[in-house]
Amino acid sequence: MAKPVAVEVYNPNGKYRVVSTKPMPGTRWINLLVDQGCRVEICHLTKTILSVEDIIDLIGNKCDGVIGQLTEDWGETLFSALSKAGGKAFSNMAVGYNNVDVEAANKYGIAVGNTPGVLTETTAELAASLSLAAARRIVEADGFMRAGLYEGWLPHLFVGNLLKGQTVGVIGAGRIGSAYARMMVEGFKMNLIYFDLYQSTRLEKFVTAYGQFLKANGEQPVTWKRASSMEEVLREADLISLHPVLDKTTYHLVNKERLAMMKKEAILVNCSRGPVIDEVALVNHLRENPMFRVGLDVFEEEPFMKPGLADMKNAIVVPHIASASKWTREGMATLAALNVLGRIKGYPIWSDPNRVDPFLNENASPPNASPSIVNSKALGLPVSKL
Ligand code: GLV
Repeated sequence: MAKPVAVEVYNPNGKYRVVSTKPMPGTRWINLLVDQGCRVEICHLTKTILSVEDIIDLIGNKCDGVIGQLTEDWGETLFSALSKAGGKAFSNMAVGYNNVDVEAANKYGIAVGNTPGVLTETTAELAASLSLAAARRIVEADGFMRAGLYEGWLPHLFVGNLLKGQTVGVIGAGRIGSAYARMMVEGFKMNLIYFDLYQSTRLEKFVTAYGQFLKANGEQPVTWKRASSMEEVLREADLISLHPVLDKTTYHLVNKERLAMMKKEAILVNCSRGPVIDEVALVNHLRENPMFRVGLDVFEEEPFMKPGLADMKNAIVVPHIASASKWTREGMATLAALNVLGRIKGYPIWSDPNRVDPFLNENASPPNASPSIVNSKALGLPVSKL
C-alpha cells in the first residue's frame, strides 16, 4: 500500500497520469500536459533529494510517465516500478543523465528523455561568470567590503589576472564548451586551446574569422589550437573550463598529477559534473598554491563539499546553478514534459535534439514529437519527419 505523499493535482480526471517529482518553473509545461489529457501530479515533499522509496510511493500502481531530477537515482528499482505501473517514459529535467541507468530503462522498454539545446548559453554564461569572478577575485573582495575592512584604494588590493591575450583552455568542446569558448574569445580576446575527441570545425572557423576581424582593425588577432592531449591544454592554458560528460572515462579526469601540470596561477572552472575533479586533491592543491583559483558549480558528492574546500579563499563555490536562468529552467520543464507526453501519445522522436526551438515557442503549439529521447535507437522508436 503506497504511503500518502504531498502532491498537487491538475486535471484530476485526465486519462494519463504523469508525475513530476518536483515543482518546476513556469506553467506552460503543466498546461501542455493537461491540454492533451494528462492528470498531472506534482510532488511537494519538502526534502530536497527524494529517495528511491519516495519515488516508488509517487509512482504508485498506475503511472504513465515521470518527470524527475538529476539528484534522483533512476536505476533498475525505479524503472521496474514504473514499468509495473504501466509507465512508458521518464525524463530528466537536465541535459546530463549520469543519474540514469539507461540500460535498465532499455530492459523495461522505458524511454529516457533529457533537455539539450535550451541550457547551452545559460550554462556557458555561468562558466564565464565564474571565470571572471575567479580572475578578478570578486567574491573575496565582496566579503572584504562587507566585513568593513576597506580603508581606501591601495596598489596591491585584490590584484587578479587580466584575461585579454591569455589562453583559455576548453576540455570538451561540445555545445556548452564551444559556447563558452566563443564567449571568452570574443568577449575577452583570449586565445583558445581545446581538447575534444571530435574536431570542432565551427569553433575553429569562428576564432579564425574573429582573429582576421581584429587584425583588419589593427588589433592583436586571437588564435586557436586543437590540442592532441588533455595534458597539453592543462600545461598551456591560463584559464581552463571543464565540459565533458561524466562517465567512467572522465571520473577524476582532473587528479593530483594533472593539477600539478597546470600553471601555478591558473584558473580552473567546472560547470559539468563534480566527480570529473578529484575534490580532495583539489583542496590540497588550492592550499599549496594560493594563486591558483577555482570556480565550481558542481561537487563530487553533492550537496556536500570535501573538507577544507569551504575555507579556501581561492575557491568560488555556487550550488549547481549553471542552468538557472528563468528562460532556460522554464524551457527545460517544457522539454521534459513533452518528452514524456510524446511517448505516452506514441509520437515520434524529434530528429535533431540540438534544434528544439519549435518546442519553446510560447505562441504556437509544439510539434507532435518527443524533443529528446536518449535511448530512442535502443528502443527502435521512429524519428519525426517534421
Ligand atoms: C544540469 O546540470 C544539467 O545537466 O542539466
